[in-house]
Amino acid sequence: MIKISEVKNFEHIKIDWVEDGNYAVISINRPDKLNALQNMTLREIAEALEPLQVDPKARCVVLRGTKDFTKRPAFSAGADLSSRSGSDLDQHNLRHQSHAMYRRHKYYDLIEEFPKPLIAAVDGYALGGGFELVLVCDIVIASKRSAFGFPEIQRGIFAANGGTQRLIRHIGKYRTKQLMFFGDHYTAEQMYEWGIVAFLVDDDKFEEILHEKASWLGNAATNSLFVIKKCIDYGTQVPLNVGLQFEQFGYAVNSQSKDVVEGVTAFLQKRTPKFKGK
Ligand code: COA
Repeated sequence: MIKISEVKNFEHIKIDWVEDGNYAVISINRPDKLNALQNMTLREIAEALEPLQVDPKARCVVLRGTKDFTKRPAFSAGADLSSRSGSDLDQHNLRHQSHAMYRRHKYYDLIEEFPKPLIAAVDGYALGGGFELVLVCDIVIASKRSAFGFPEIQRGIFAANGGTQRLIRHIGKYRTKQLMFFGDHYTAEQMYEWGIVAFLVDDDKFEEILHEKASWLGNAATNSLFVIKKCIDYGTQVPLNVGLQFEQFGYAVNSQSKDVVEGVTAFLQKRTPKFKGK
């Protein structure tokens, strides 16, 4: 099996395993730039996730900004505005710029395709491309001091890492336009009311609640979570009859899982199930 350490040394992210919770943590580690994203950052996240797909020690993954912030707490302040001129592509060539976004879309798609639960743990700014990263995760846990938004319009650009397309599917066209036309910051509480944040927590409880939720998912029936995730993610993109067929096949696949036997047996024996993720 490929191990993370054999893949490469990462420059923009770091990875930790929380053994008692059966989950891994990917931290974006660019505190001086409030975890701003370069292509390399996104590529490293996608590369780190690949072996975690089959790593039994990681039955859930947390994506976050580094805990060791030096300036302000941040999930990510979006695209790295200081590195735009460092690209190998011509900024004035239409095909080059289309290709630039093709690359970025590919990374976001790879992250979204990850088959296990992916938690966005947001403590601080989640702006622009950082907010778009949140939108490819499954569950969002946010501290109350966090701020979300798409400020790109203030820089004369726009949220093109899937932002315009993914956000309308969550909060609808009018709210998406409001966010993107004006570029304001929104509170975590507002995102909770709009259904993007699942768990809104006090700042001093953030680490505790994050560990509680990640451990719960890390100890749950991993195959069921996989099937649920795929049914829901593809269910939003296909007609109902196709989605229902997908669900039937998903049910059949999951029924082969040993955790199904454990879950039902534990219920009948009036004990807590001990799922192994198999
Ligand atoms: N790219 C590169 N560097 C960034 C950055 C980004 N997206 N966002 C913040 N930084 C850097 C700042 O340049 C600053 O570096 P410095 O201390 O060397 O000058 C450092 O992070 C701290 O940012 P600062 O602006 O001083 O903090 P603040 O608390 O006053 O404001 C933000 C925080 C996030 C509101 C502000 O930095 C900001 O608006 N950033 C840009 C967000 C953005 O437009 N994202 C979308 C990009 S398309």
